[in-house]
Amino acid sequence: MEIVNAAESHIEGITAIYNEAVEHSTAIWNDVKADADNRRAWAADRARAGYPVLVAIDPDNSVLGYASFGDWRAWDGYRHTVEHSIYVRADQRGNGIGKHLLMALIDRARSIGKHVMVAGIEAENVASIRLHERLGFEHAGTLKEVGVKFGTWLDLTFLQLKLDARPAD
Ligand SMILES: CC(C)(COP(=O)(O)OP(=O)(O)OC[C@H]1O[C@@H](n2cnc3c(N)ncnc32)[C@H](O)[C@@H]1OP(=O)(O)O)[C@@H](O)C(=O)NCCC(=O)NCCS
Repeated sequence: MEIVNAAESHIEGITAIYNEAVEHSTAIWNDVKADADNRRAWAADRARAGYPVLVAIDPDNSVLGYASFGDWRAWDGYRHTVEHSIYVRADQRGNGIGKHLLMALIDRARSIGKHVMVAGIEAENVASIRLHERLGFEHAGTLKEVGVKFGTWLDLTFLQLKLDARPAD
């Protein structure tokens, strides 16, 4: 397994993983699946913003998982904070891929001078919460019933990681 920047050859794999999560999980609070053009445009937006889209690939260049971050909120004062997402292909979960993707993402965020990473996680997503705790993220609170999917209200738990101790600028 190798972690690289996403390229055109990975868009189909990213799209398949995204759509599996839309269809079967509360990891993404969307109901509508995306096509490859949608994910290609998303990846291009991230690149234009100077933000990474990383993929974990096997030796055949198949996408095993992907991870990215974007601005947390649009206002100027949030410019040093990013919110990320990580998705591992269903048949590859529990093998350490999520951990390696998140470690790589943390390195990227630090290397471009970000100060805080935020994860918004459905409150019952034990695997994701555990993954983030393992890499030093701290719980920052839970918003109750702010989402809905599959006919159920969803709570959103935030975890955060401070990336450095520099003074505000
Ligand atoms: C959440 C997700 C990204 C984790 O990636 P992963 O590759 O399966 O996780 P890893 O194998 O790297 O495990 C990381 C840690 O989480 C723990 N973990 C993984 N799956 C777990 C589970 N189902 N229950 C409890 N802990 C779990 C691991 O034990 C490990 O901790 P450890 O080092 O203390 O043993 C992955 O399961 C996934 O893509 N899920 C569906 C989409 C999703 O929920 N994305 C996150 C949206 S916020």
